Amino acid sequence: MENEKHHSTNGVRKPSNTKGKKMEVRIKILFTSICHTDLGAWHGENEAQRAYPRILGHEASGIVESVGEGVTDVTEGDYVVPIFNGECGECECCKCPKTNICTKFGVNPMKRVMAGDGTSRFTNKEGKPIFHFLNTSTFSEYTVVESACVVKIDSSISHGLKKMTLLSCGVSTGVGAAWNTANVQPGSKVAVFGLGAVGLAVAEGARARGASKIIGVDINPSKFSKGRAMGVTDFINPTELEKPVHEKIREMSKGGVDYSFECVGDLDVLREAFLSTHEGWGFTVVLGIHSTPKMLPIHPMELFDGRKITGSVFGGFKGKTQLPLFAQECTRGVVELDKFITHELPFDKINEAFQLLVDGESLRCVLHL
Ligand code: APR
Ligand code: ZN
Ligand code: ZN
Repeated sequence: MENEKHHSTNGVRKPSNTKGKKMEVRIKILFTSICHTDLGAWHGENEAQRAYPRILGHEASGIVESVGEGVTDVTEGDYVVPIFNGECGECECCKCPKTNICTKFGVNPMKRVMAGDGTSRFTNKEGKPIFHFLNTSTFSEYTVVESACVVKIDSSISHGLKKMTLLSCGVSTGVGAAWNTANVQPGSKVAVFGLGAVGLAVAEGARARGASKIIGVDINPSKFSKGRAMGVTDFINPTELEKPVHEKIREMSKGGVDYSFECVGDLDVLREAFLSTHEGWGFTVVLGIHSTPKMLPIHPMELFDGRKITGSVFGGFKGKTQLPLFAQECTRGVVELDKFITHELPFDKINEAFQLLVDGESLRCVLHL
């Protein structure tokens, strides 16, 4: 394999996998997009993310360029999406159908080198290491990932590869939370707190499942028009209410919604989401990232009212085994991915794409490499 002569646009060497490192896959990235986690890492919001120099990016799609020893499920030329929440297939959790956690290749912002030999596959021009991010590092023309962190996409849907980029994180996280974690049923009543890309993906998942009422809650009134396209039927702006949001939602849904989703990352919002559900069976799913050291704002006795609460990572999807089927459902239009691609830019305009996200202009800006 000749790879040393290629340099990416930012002076990073094409990642080395010349010896075909065991259980690793080198991917030529064709499309990538930006999620809030990249923004947080760029700003160094928490210590774990500050392992610079580091190649960020975890939503992407591309083509397998080469595979190392032992990789059997993807081969050169396959269309793939990298996944930050891997599936090794061998750990206790991977073997258990109740979870999509992988103890070997799960979400770990501290991990910055490959598991196999503890080194990075990226170097700068001087040969110094540049570290990996979230098992993926997709802001690069080429990346190397562990075989557990790559999913093959059916070649028959290769023409839709660009859209598949969204399955790497945002859309899978939101739709999967509605389908897998909550298991929203036809006719269900749902409340979604925070109508960013994650909350809108939850709404889209609930719409696809036939929810009868989808109440969107956001302090930014411009989010309602975006929400309508994803199936949001009712809108609440908490800043215009004279009562707590949960009281309003209980009124609107005759006792409370069946499912609520916290997609903001705020403890007060989380408490409102919890109290918005119906006593006896209400189910709250947390998707927001809570950087505060404070604990869950729920008194243990409140759990005797029968409301349940849980978190959802990567929408509960076991990536390697379940994402190919989800990709097919998206291709059939069960979930409409196009609605989430609001902008497209060449990769060298990545700073503009970050700004679009910061300004709340874009849901997803797909960058073309
Ligand atoms: N009540 C209701 N909505 C709120 C509130 C609030 N108190 N505060 C903020 N919001 C809204 C914002 O107006 C915005 O529309 O929540 C939405 C959050 O959307 P984004 O910032 O675009 O974030 P998103 O990418 O959707 O991620 C949501 O999930 O993955 C995590 O780290 C991510 O915690 C974040 C959450
Ligand atoms: Zn993400
Ligand atoms: Zn595993």
